[in-house]
Amino acid sequence: WPAFSDDIDAILALKRERNAVILAHNYQTPEIFHCVADIVGDSLALARKAMTVEAQVIVLAGVHFMAETAKLLNPDKTVLIPDLGAGCSLADSITAWDVRLMRERYPGVPVVTYVNTSAAVKAESDICCTSGNALAVVKSLGAPRVIMLPDEYLARNIAAQTKVEIIAWTGRCEVHERFTASDIQELREAYPGVTVLAHPECPPEVVAEADFAGSTAAMLDYVGQHKPARVALMTECSMSDNIAVEHPEIEFVRPCNLCPHMKRITLRNIRSALEENRHVVTIDPCVAERARWAVERMLFV
Ligand code: 13P
Ligand code: SF4
Repeated sequence: WPAFSDDIDAILALKRERNAVILAHNYQTPEIFHCVADIVGDSLALARKAMTVEAQVIVLAGVHFMAETAKLLNPDKTVLIPDLGAGCSLADSITAWDVRLMRERYPGVPVVTYVNTSAAVKAESDICCTSGNALAVVKSLGAPRVIMLPDEYLARNIAAQTKVEIIAWTGRCEVHERFTASDIQELREAYPGVTVLAHPECPPEVVAEADFAGSTAAMLDYVGQHKPARVALMTECSMSDNIAVEHPEIEFVRPCNLCPHMKRITLRNIRSALEENRHVVTIDPCVAERARWAVERMLFV
């Protein structure tokens, strides 16, 4: 990537100078994912690996809730997010107050909260989950009913795999809600033999129509293990771009949808983040303690 080489060189030097690491989500663009990231993965892997970071500075190439999770797990380190506007439609769909109202409405029912939420929402929860461990988290509670917030589709997709009654919220991922079952039927007609993988934030009809559903890490593993000749990933566009670099023999069929929040992170603002020490992620200590507990509890499931 010669067009990016100035920024890449500068970032590599700044990482050494500042004793910094870059954690990048699978939806980051290939030049970030392959050229400057130290740790890449899905939300679960990023949270797990954040616990083992020794560097003093963490740059989170991803969205704000991921940076907050890294800060929760590393209260004494500096966590930077290159663009404060990198949000998430799911995180924006619910407030701490909404969680308290749900608890009043369903007394005694445990609250499982997707990591795609603010620290304030996590602080009101019994345990967090990601798309990679949601079923295991729900089962670990041993309860007949759980409240699962805020992604309605993830909740319904998990409900289809368990006898536990799931009470959902109405949040949606603006990237995954746009895929439809007829998109997949059309793909199958246009690209015979295509293997279709869907993220569990997609509507249940899309998951039902796909060959496999799983987190971004599970999709990556699936492609690596099964090596389908043709594959369509019903998820964010950079996933296909990043895997295609490692599997030139596989035909990646698009369509895909872009996440405008993930795409706010660029090499240029990662460089500025390290040069200017911005934007420092802070969490109210009263919120942080309770939110950390919900995240850490998930990591032991
Ligand atoms: P995972 O990488 O955990 O599957 O999450 C996808 C996502 O939408 C993150 O914003
Ligand atoms: Fe949020 Fe969806 Fe973007 Fe992930 S892909 S950050 S869930 S809007």
